[in-house]
Amino acid sequence: MQIRRCAIVMFEPRSEVSLDLSLLLQGQAGLVTRMHWQALAAHLDAPVEVSIEEIDVLGRIEPDRWVEPAQAGLEGTALARLLEIGLVISQEPGEASHRDRDQRVRDANWWPLSALQHRMGRWGGINSAREMREHKLVTAQDLHARFGAPPAAVDAPGTDPLMLPDTPDDARDELLRKRATCRNFDAQRTLALPLLAQVLKRTVQAHAALRPGDGMEFLKKHIPSGGGLHPLETYVVALAVDGLAPGVYHYHPLEHALRPVAVATDDLRTLMLGFVSGQDWFADAPLHLIQVARFPRSFWKYRHHPKAYRAVLLDAGHLSQQWMLSATELGLAAYVTAAINEIDVEKALGLDGIDASPVMICGLGWRADAQVTSEFDPLQQVWRG
Ligand SMILES: Cc1cc2nc3c(=O)[nH]c(=O)nc-3n(C[C@H](O)[C@H](O)[C@H](O)COP(=O)(O)O)c2cc1C
Repeated sequence: MQIRRCAIVMFEPRSEVSLDLSLLLQGQAGLVTRMHWQALAAHLDAPVEVSIEEIDVLGRIEPDRWVEPAQAGLEGTALARLLEIGLVISQEPGEASHRDRDQRVRDANWWPLSALQHRMGRWGGINSAREMREHKLVTAQDLHARFGAPPAAVDAPGTDPLMLPDTPDDARDELLRKRATCRNFDAQRTLALPLLAQVLKRTVQAHAALRPGDGMEFLKKHIPSGGGLHPLETYVVALAVDGLAPGVYHYHPLEHALRPVAVATDDLRTLMLGFVSGQDWFADAPLHLIQVARFPRSFWKYRHHPKAYRAVLLDAGHLSQQWMLSATELGLAAYVTAAINEIDVEKALGLDGIDASPVMICGLGWRADAQVTSEFDPLQQVWRG
């Protein structure tokens, strides 16, 4: 058997406070603190507790050279456990699962801290809406009661300001003023396919392709992208679009075409509600867009680069603003959310969470007549009076 260390692993000291009933019955405070180490590895789904001895053994195994454990003087229960939990990778056929995931981490060219940030920040089965309600953190007043006032809205230096000239408003300013995150979709009103097509055209369609070399293709879209690589892949979840069967689709930016994707569900709305972590105020939209980052596309150029992950997330930001403005211009309503259950999306779409994983979901539809969930419209451009 040949072994090597997994590609990316870091350690975090943790302390857990718990109640010890026996101490409490003896009249003591009853609180005990347990200190331990956990390993965070880029190919594992969650942190795993490790002993100091295991960390020591791991520190003696190179990540890039296969060795026989006996030759390297590495045997015993610590090594056996490290193999079992996947921090040490083996070439044995039965250990293929850890080995394959670790290989995908290597092939993707992640910068280690970004790999861990993305991998460990993914949610599965979280209901953020329910948690907000349970913890009474819904309204601005709730937040103030718990956290006090936030840092100032503007952090200006105390020098004399130069007042800038006022410029006359035009149609663009009017459009920008009308953009507001929609949290009240009309669940009964369907979306016409040409409207969806128009928003996709303005947001994610590629309007040209440059092929400067063998196997190289760069897409020109209306949004900027780090390195011009456009690593975000678009999936469409259609619940109520005229002329489009309810289902999940992949959007091809050059063909401007949708291809059905097989997803095991008999209830798309419940699936979507889970994807947006229980935010029922978004789930009524007739159309949702899942933005999946294909990290190796970006990291092909930005190898092990500390800024590369940030650039991918910024791309999602450009896309969402373009999405919202395109929708607003057509009289439609839109939302964007980062509070998503990435792991559930990955399972549904058959993604591995290492080289492909969702980073953002946005949606499109019509605003309902009544504002049940609050929206941020202080200028009363959307909700008049
Ligand atoms: C990256 C990002 C994530 C967001 N996530 C959520 C979310 O999870 N739930 C939600 O209700 N709104 C979400 N929003 C919407 C913001 O709350 C909203 O933009 C903000 O309150 C300002 O309101 P406006 O968009 O109407 O100007 C998100 C916005 C952005 C840009």
